[in-house]
Amino acid sequence: MKEAGYAIAVYPGDGTGPEVIREGEKVLGALAEGGPAPWRLSEYPGGGQYYLKTGREWEPEAAAAARSADAILLGAVGWPGATLPNGDIAGRALVLGLREGLDLYANVRPCRLYPGVKHRISGEYRAVWAPKNVDMTIVRENTEDLYTPTRGRLSRGGETEVAVDTRIITRKGAERVVRFAFELARARARGAPEDGVRRVTCVDKSNVMEGCRFFRETFDRVATEYPEIERDYAYVDAFTQWLVRNPERYNVVVATNMMGDIITDLAAILQGGMGFASGGNIGSDHAMFEPVHGSAPKYAGKNQVNPYATFFAIEQMLRWLGDRHGDPRLLAQAARLERAIASTLAAGGSGTYDQGGTVTTSGAGDRLSEAIRAERA
Ligand code: IPM
Ligand code: MN
Repeated sequence: MKEAGYAIAVYPGDGTGPEVIREGEKVLGALAEGGPAPWRLSEYPGGGQYYLKTGREWEPEAAAAARSADAILLGAVGWPGATLPNGDIAGRALVLGLREGLDLYANVRPCRLYPGVKHRISGEYRAVWAPKNVDMTIVRENTEDLYTPTRGRLSRGGETEVAVDTRIITRKGAERVVRFAFELARARARGAPEDGVRRVTCVDKSNVMEGCRFFRETFDRVATEYPEIERDYAYVDAFTQWLVRNPERYNVVVATNMMGDIITDLAAILQGGMGFASGGNIGSDHAMFEPVHGSAPKYAGKNQVNPYATFFAIEQMLRWLGDRHGDPRLLAQAARLERAIASTLAAGGSGTYDQGGTVTTSGAGDRLSEAIRAERA
């Protein structure tokens, strides 16, 4: 427990990133009212737009702050035309660079549909899934697989003839993320909505790929340490249809990096869209929390996007800090934030454009701040 407060390094990033982070900071401010805040925020610029201005993705002190912080909060990076000389997106250092550099091996993406939230299918808002049926957490491996920077192009005679991405699955990488998933299933109060069973589903393509066979073998070995948790398997292609048809079956899902990237965007539709999807990038010594939606350049500067993904990222961050430091203040604030979010959403959703409403980004932040004030700490 840190009396002086936890150091939180904040990187608003590009596009709509600064707009949602501003609301996140507003909400943290509301939580801290009436007492010394148990956290200290320091903001650093960086990303693609910063790169276009300065030729650098971020400053050395911003990078150092990520390393020394107790937790990291990231908006989003990526901006049209902001590309590094090697072809990577400018701002990569803040996302993929931190995942790799701080060894944030588990990307934890909760997928829960709150009462009051609508989802949009073929342009219409429909109640396709009942809120009680969507409540899972997808754990995506975050440091290897097709994301390993073992890639390149081979040009012959000036012609680019072949591009190679190498898929790396290691025993260490697979084992720790699978263990993370089982620990999460053990700690979660709720099992799968369908039957209350605590279940970990391994999503892979082990009928074809060696890396996936290795991942599944590792899953089976680790699973023996958790006899009280049901193991479940799905090939990724079949999983995409079951996820949509029968989300209530899923409790904790674990997948390799690239497949995890894809299935979490699909899962976001179940929870109301990317406007509600948050992720915690968690390692053994560091963690970074972010909305999953990206910088959405088209909406930048319009005060229009849904900031709830950032609110959920903050809830995840407070919970992680509270658990890690055994600090009841943080856990109480996380629970209070969750209650305020649930009550606000129940009374008409986020109301933002992605939900068919006219509530602005800052309006949504104001509404949630009010709800926080109404909740006892
Ligand atoms: C995500 C994003 C990132 C990823 C991009 C921005 C590099 O899509 O966090 O899911 O591919 O992991
Ligand atoms: Mn993604």
